[in-house]
This record gives sequence, structure tokens and C-alpha cells, in this order.
Amino acid sequence: MRKFLLALASLSFALLSSTASAQQAPTLYSQLGEKAGITKVVDTFVGNIAKDGRINGMFAATNIPRLKTLLVEQVCEASGGPCKYTGRDMKSSHAGMGVNRSHFNALVEDLQAAMSTEGVPFGVQNELLAVLAPMYRDIIAR
Ligand code: HEM
Repeated sequence: MRKFLLALASLSFALLSSTASAQQAPTLYSQLGEKAGITKVVDTFVGNIAKDGRINGMFAATNIPRLKTLLVEQVCEASGGPCKYTGRDMKSSHAGMGVNRSHFNALVEDLQAAMSTEGVPFGVQNELLAVLAPMYRDIIAR
């Protein structure tokens, strides 16, 4: 009986500590403030792009509400959230635009500034940028 109780106690401890460690590892999605936090960042980000003379001309013919919806879906899905991105792939949506490294850097600056404005911690900002960085080769014109 004593052995059984000991085994039961250590099993409960193992279960409890695995639950605790699962709670200690929040997803990037939750660190961004879930859908509501991501929506705020995207709104501010697109507002920054609109004011950015280095790149705003490229968005002159773009349906902005649609772009915002797609960016929220994309960031939500890429950060581990429960969304499904419904837009076009990065290669076809940027084809023929002539996006170069300077355009890309300008857009990343606008995103970083938006995350700072919305209070996203620096480390979390870098995590999102790392998730988006591999898209670079599909977006840049060659
Ligand atoms: C990691 C970087 C980027 C991400 C994640 C991204 C994401 C997206 C997404 C999700 C869309 C909507 C796709 C669709 O229409 O189905 C889009 C469209 C667009 N992107 Fe990007 N983009 C990035 C970089 C850039 C850069 C550097 C530029 C130029 C400065 C740019 C210019 C545009 C424009 C103008 C559109 C709208 C195209 C249209 O009106 O049909 N993007 N982007």
C-alpha cells in the first residue's frame, strides 16, 4: 500500500509539473496578444506604411481592408494561432512589383515601429521577424 501511495504521489507530481511546464512556454501567438493584439499591430503597421514615402506608392491600388485581414490571418497562423491564411502565396502576390532589399527593409522598419507602439516586447518582436524572414526570397524581385 505504501509503495502504491508513493507511486501515485510521484505520478501526480509528474503530471502536475508537465502541466506547469506547458504553461511556462507560451506560444508566439499568445505573446503577441492573440487575435486582438495582432489586429492592433497590423492596423498600426498598415498606417505606418501609408505614411512611408519609401514604399507607400506601391500600395496605391491595393484594397487595404482586404490586405489587413490577410495580414492578420497570416501572422496569426505563422505564430501558432488558430487561423487559416486565405490569401495568395508570397511569390504570386508580389510578382512584378520590383520589390528590392531597401523596400523590404523599409517595410520591416514599419512593422517593428508598429510592434513598439503596441507594446510588443523586443524579444517577441524578433521572434515574429524570424518567422517572417524566410519569406524574403519569394518577395524580392530577381
Ligand atoms: C515579410 C514581408 C512581407 C509579408 C509577410 C507580406 C505579406 C503580404 C500579404 C499577406 C499580402 C496579401 C496577399 C494577397 O493579396 O492575397 C501582400 C500583398 C502586398 N504586398 Fe506584401 N508582404 C511582405 C513584404 C512586402 C514588401 C517589402 C512590399 C513592398 C514594399 C510589399 C507590397 C505588397 C503590396 C503592394 C501588396 C498588395 C498587392 C495587391 O494589391 O494585389 N509586401 N503582402
